Amino acid sequence: MTIIAHISDTHFDGSERAMSRSRRAMDYLRGCDVDVIVVTGDLTDHGDVEEYDQVRSELVADVPVLLLPGNHDDRAAYRRVLLGGEGAAPINQLHRVGGVVFALCDSTIPGQHGGLLAPETLTWLQGVLADAEEPVFICLHHHPIRVNNPLLDSIRLQNPDDLAAVVSASPMAAAVLCGHAHAAAAGTFAGVPLIMAPGIFSTTRLPWTTTDELAWSNTFDRDDIPGLVFHVLENGQLTSHFRTVPA
Ligand SMILES: [Fe+2]
Ligand SMILES: [Fe+2]
Repeated sequence: MTIIAHISDTHFDGSERAMSRSRRAMDYLRGCDVDVIVVTGDLTDHGDVEEYDQVRSELVADVPVLLLPGNHDDRAAYRRVLLGGEGAAPINQLHRVGGVVFALCDSTIPGQHGGLLAPETLTWLQGVLADAEEPVFICLHHHPIRVNNPLLDSIRLQNPDDLAAVVSASPMAAAVLCGHAHAAAAGTFAGVPLIMAPGIFSTTRLPWTTTDELAWSNTFDRDDIPGLVFHVLENGQLTSHFRTVPA
């Protein structure tokens, strides 16, 4: 049995608020018996080196913590602080933990909030799936399906069909994990489960839950309790548990 803790959108911005919400999640997870922690992007709010210093010191545990970039991140600063390298190419990473392969695909477009999987990233993912002998969790920041909030859907992944073609061609694809939507939500994509982690930093409001007209200024509920997902893979069966983080 493999237990994957999935959090997203920590948005470290130097504030006490962002720090305390992430600490609440990580303190909780460090007391849980999980095999790996996946953070599906928007690690920082502005992509500053100082914010990555916080990521490096806060998003740590005794188990591997896998970190994806999001649209609020910056590839060069991410590389400099977290990987010890230089450059602005997509940050695609392969990890093997607990009998599972994690393909972390960089879906960011520098300077934009929407997402795109570049041809080199899709080719890389195709290779990972072709070589895999264990179930592969395909992780990216941007949601490839609608989340029913028009604002968030305007900045979703722009080329979902390209991803679907790669995923559906492989029997090793177990699930797609993403963030960005700040929404605990699930669907299907290219024949596999698609699961979105709620945002640590805030939660997207849904149009039918309010009479307010949603705009960028009010679409995120900053008072909602931070949450996370536990994905359990046992004998090829995936079950995902959505939980709020205890105070
Ligand atoms: Fe975010
Ligand atoms: Fe995002």
